[in-house]
Amino acid sequence: MILSIESSCDDSSIAITQIKSLKVVFHKKISQEIDHSKYGGVVPELAARLHAKALPQILQQTQDFFPYLKAIAVTTEPGLSVSLIEGVTMAKALSIALKLPILSVNHLKGHIYSLFIEKKAMFPLGVLLVSGGHTQVLQVSSHDNISILASTLDDSFGESFDKVAKMLGLTYPGGPIIEEYAKQGDDKAYDFTIPLQSSNKIAFSYSGLKNQVRLCIKEQNNTLSEKMKSDICASFQRVATAHLMQKLKKIFKIYKFSNFAVVGGASANLYLREQLNKLCPDLLVAPLQYCSDNAVMIGRASIEDFKDKNFCNLEDITINPKIKIFT
Ligand code: KG4
Ligand code: ZN
Repeated sequence: MILSIESSCDDSSIAITQIKSLKVVFHKKISQEIDHSKYGGVVPELAARLHAKALPQILQQTQDFFPYLKAIAVTTEPGLSVSLIEGVTMAKALSIALKLPILSVNHLKGHIYSLFIEKKAMFPLGVLLVSGGHTQVLQVSSHDNISILASTLDDSFGESFDKVAKMLGLTYPGGPIIEEYAKQGDDKAYDFTIPLQSSNKIAFSYSGLKNQVRLCIKEQNNTLSEKMKSDICASFQRVATAHLMQKLKKIFKIYKFSNFAVVGGASANLYLREQLNKLCPDLLVAPLQYCSDNAVMIGRASIEDFKDKNFCNLEDITINPKIKIFT
């Protein structure tokens, strides 16, 4: 079995996965959403302090599995440095205490493997990754051969939901609450412009759309009824998604994918899934509980590295908070 740890942002999570059967035998996640909600976004130092408390609490529940462990997997990149360090420190301590090798896992690769929980992986694959930190289209040829075909020039898809929610006085994270409000709203009530429409550039941008929403709220003198909030959420969600669809259509003309998937925290958005399904009827998605950050996807990704004996030297294990460009 592999014990995997995820602490790249604001979720403390540990999982244990059987190597041969891919079966998940333990999973626990303590989310810090409520703690960060009053600040409208993740406060790194607070996140680190909460990881330091939550990770040992979860680890204590895994002790019966220790004799069966063959490796410790941990997210080392990308993410908040102070948060990543908490998981990596625990992985190092376990590695020394239990005399086990460490597997270093890229968080974005983890999201890709959320498609293959308790399942055999299937490549090649085109992937739309929509999370709080990233908006990318990836060509995944194999476990070790991933290239970025498009990414965002500024804010990410999920981040734009978080920022719009903050402007509307809604809770953090913004994605789920905006999706809820949007269900009651008229998505044509506000005619926001789809970003980069007239540009041939294969890239995404969300800062302009965020600004359109900001100006729209300002025009109402910052006093918004619940109906107006719902209409703004519905209109914003429609345009934010339409932008993804327009650029994906361009990408699909250039690259022919035999399979296409959507992953990342924002892939839980059902409106987005519905629109993507129109474009790719055979769209692959992860189970809803594994869309947002979790250690199960990290454990699943690490199994491929375990098979290749792709272990890390304890002295060499480092965190890389910045966006990792796949090669
Ligand atoms: O993958 P994730 O859990 O963390 C990162 O790796 O960033 O993604 C979190 C992001 C947040 O920005 C959150 O607002 C967004 O995913 N999100 C959503 C939805 N659920 C979560 N965005 C839109 N609609 C949702 N239903
Ligand atoms: Zn993530």
